[in-house]
Amino acid sequence: MKGNEIRRKYLEFFKSKGHAIIPSASLMPENDPTTLFISSGMQPLIPYLMGEKHPDGKRLVNSQKSFRSGDIEEVGDNRHNTFFEMLGNWSLGDYFKKEQLNWVFEFLTKELKIDPKRLYVTVYSGNKEIGVERDNESVEIWKEIFKKHNIDSRNYDNSETEGMRDGRIFYYGDNKNWWSRSGEPANMPVGEIGGPDSEIFYDMGAELKRHENSEWKDKPCHVNCDCGRFIEVGNSVFIEFIKKEDGFKALKQKNVDFGGGLERLAMVSEGKDNVFETDLFINILKKIEELSGNKKYRDNMKAFEVIADHMKGATFIMGDDKGVAPANVDQGYIVRRLIRRTIRFGQQLGITKSSWTKEIARIIIDDYKEAYPELNRNAEFIINETEKEEDKFMKTLVKGEKMISNDKMDGKAAFNIFQTYGYPVEMTKEIVAERGIKLSHEFDTEYNEAMKKHQSLSRTAAEGKFKGGLADQSGETTKLHTVCHLLLESLKRVLGDHIHQKGSNITAKRLRFDFSHGAKMTDEEKDRVEKQVNEAIQADYPVSFEEMSLKEAKKIGAEGVFESKYGDKVKVYSVGDFSTEICGGPHVDNTNKINGVFKIKKEQSSGAGVRRIKGILE
Ligand code: ALA
Repeated sequence: MKGNEIRRKYLEFFKSKGHAIIPSASLMPENDPTTLFISSGMQPLIPYLMGEKHPDGKRLVNSQKSFRSGDIEEVGDNRHNTFFEMLGNWSLGDYFKKEQLNWVFEFLTKELKIDPKRLYVTVYSGNKEIGVERDNESVEIWKEIFKKHNIDSRNYDNSETEGMRDGRIFYYGDNKNWWSRSGEPANMPVGEIGGPDSEIFYDMGAELKRHENSEWKDKPCHVNCDCGRFIEVGNSVFIEFIKKEDGFKALKQKNVDFGGGLERLAMVSEGKDNVFETDLFINILKKIEELSGNKKYRDNMKAFEVIADHMKGATFIMGDDKGVAPANVDQGYIVRRLIRRTIRFGQQLGITKSSWTKEIARIIIDDYKEAYPELNRNAEFIINETEKEEDKFMKTLVKGEKMISNDKMDGKAAFNIFQTYGYPVEMTKEIVAERGIKLSHEFDTEYNEAMKKHQSLSRTAAEGKFKGGLADQSGETTKLHTVCHLLLESLKRVLGDHIHQKGSNITAKRLRFDFSHGAKMTDEEKDRVEKQVNEAIQADYPVSFEEMSLKEAKKIGAEGVFESKYGDKVKVYSVGDFSTEICGGPHVDNTNKINGVFKIKKEQSSGAGVRRIKGILE
């Protein structure tokens, strides 16, 4: 079954089980300083998993655009991608384990017609220290399910060391069967939510057990062993805990958070041993073949996979409604890395044509424009930015590679190569490794120091590390969130109606707010905006919300650029009669709770036609 069909079937299947279909949220997180990109379906839904009411109800389903930059260097095995679509369904304090496990199994075996004998499952073995028990409940449910299919379902511990034996259900601990955005319980910051999970694996067949000459050669094969034989096709997380200062506590509600990678499901369903040969990639591979003078994928797997994966990631990041162009910081730095790495691997394939990367972007736009219409809306931006980036890099490519050919490489030199020739440090390291050159001992420290001196890239290093979590709905972040609404309205009043929000990022200490405006703000304009915001804070405006259809929200003139994030019904927050804005919350209930004076600390450019304000409460 084709990827597009699987996506549609999944949404319809869960709709038939009472779920509301909600659109994919933007790839760029909102009010969430913890990651550069949305990397799982639950991330935009955190407030609702924590108890806030979702306008579409307690059962939700979608296909979420996701990006994991940590996987950039993993691309090239048979199953990792940076960009992927995560099929997700959620129970917000509604159904729980029994319904979830039965439904997923039904979807896989009845709708996708996957042979149930090829499916194996894992459950959480428990951890006394954090007071969470072994998940025997899920084991019992799985046993019933397998019994219905006349499949023997013995369960075992320790398959890592003792092998799978004749088992079907396996217990694993914190590092495998617990899920939170920051991984296992010990790594979770206070305020983060998570819980035990139950994963489903598909057996690709013994011939795919890549044990010969590999590190797996003398080790027992088991579903989590990464030898490539078993592939995870779905994960049901039972999000029922929050980490507090004094340990794990039950959340107000027991949630289900399911995620399944569409590309992997397509691979299994299409009977392929590789995500890249599914319909979700095949047109891209064909284009690469054509561009490379008919080189074949099977003879050049890694280069084809890197190009196909990276161009898809870059296209979706640029093509988001909050899309970003290649740059030296933040998300833009990732786009830059993706395009430049693509070009290097293209050279390995002998692609000589100029401006070829945009031809691949075009294929991706065409393949996905129905499911993700924003790609079409932003097609011109994608194509132009891709072309510009390729031009820029080609001008310095050769010079930069020459700079790298020393006998030893230190971090400071790598930083200079980045500054002068635009070589992302990860790429320099890769080239260095290919040439068998050594890195200096203190490479990373040297690089970071040089970088700090240059006052750039500061946030990129923080990527993937969860500091406070969006779960950090502390008083300070909530206050600043309400201030964002006041700021947007004030900007409109001072600068004009062309002002729209392009993004925001809030921590307990400051807000960052991006908006559409072509010119630097004058000091006088900044003063007037500050004054408007502070008058609104002092006006003791009540803050409240109403649920309505997107249409009604537009009719009453509510501001909102993040429409694609919401389903039919949206929440519209009003701050007195000062501002109305589509938003998920949370907010203070009265502006007097903000209790501080707003100050603009910085106003600067953040890309073409976009300005950025950094502001604090004093
Ligand atoms: N949030 C879970 C995951 O990403 C479903 O695996």
